[in-house]
Amino acid sequence: MKEEDSIKSVKRRTAGSVVALFFILSIIIMSCDRGANDPGWDYFPDMAYSPAYRTWSDNPVLENNMTMLSPVKGTIPRNMIPFQYERTLEDQVRAGLELVNPFEYSVGNIERGKVAYNVFCMNCHGESGDGLGYLFTSGRYLVPPSSVVDEKIKAQPDGSIYHTISLGYGVMAEHASLILPEDRWKIILYIREELQGERFELHYPEEGMPFVAD
Ligand code: HEC
Repeated sequence: MKEEDSIKSVKRRTAGSVVALFFILSIIIMSCDRGANDPGWDYFPDMAYSPAYRTWSDNPVLENNMTMLSPVKGTIPRNMIPFQYERTLEDQVRAGLELVNPFEYSVGNIERGKVAYNVFCMNCHGESGDGLGYLFTSGRYLVPPSSVVDEKIKAQPDGSIYHTISLGYGVMAEHASLILPEDRWKIILYIREELQGERFELHYPEEGMPFVAD
């Protein structure tokens, strides 16, 4: 009985060593590479290599052997309508005459405008629009931001404020690269409705060619 037990345990140990040896050997084999940058063997390479040309790869089919071609002259990316105004006072006035806010005073639009105002404008212009935002009152921003609720801005057409947000004004930086066009218009709805407390129908130009900008 005892002898049988010891034979069994010897067999078990031998089996254990074979398994251990197998693991050790496979780890050694796996770690044999030809260099740190060599990916080793491909077992099923079907999905590892895309048959499509990559953006920057050579391309025998296209012009100049380039996959990435420049856009056709005069074309613009989808949904990107360039803002055709300069950062000048004349153009701020012109934008006020030519551009119409394409969004209406709906609860959803004003709510959205508030969210965007609180993210992008409140730090400087203040929660109530008086220009006393935290960046200024804490002394971190030295130039006093304008009040957006004073008579000047109340009387300014939507398009001029849109111009200010998009291209900046004086020391205020441009925000076109930060805020979607639709959110810029909604910020204006919010400023009018909630901060200025007045909805100015006269902000819509009476003459000129009103068109809906981007
Ligand atoms: C980093 C601070 C800062 C931020 C952020 C900022 N502004 Fe200004 N803004 C200013 C300053 C400063 C002025 C005054 C510039 C000057 O007079 O040189 C100004 C001026 C203005 C004016 C007055 C323009 C005029 O015709 O007199 C309006 C309107 C305005 N900002 C709206 C906004 C709106 C809307 C936002 C958010 C999208 C915004 N600003 C974000 C600092 C800021």
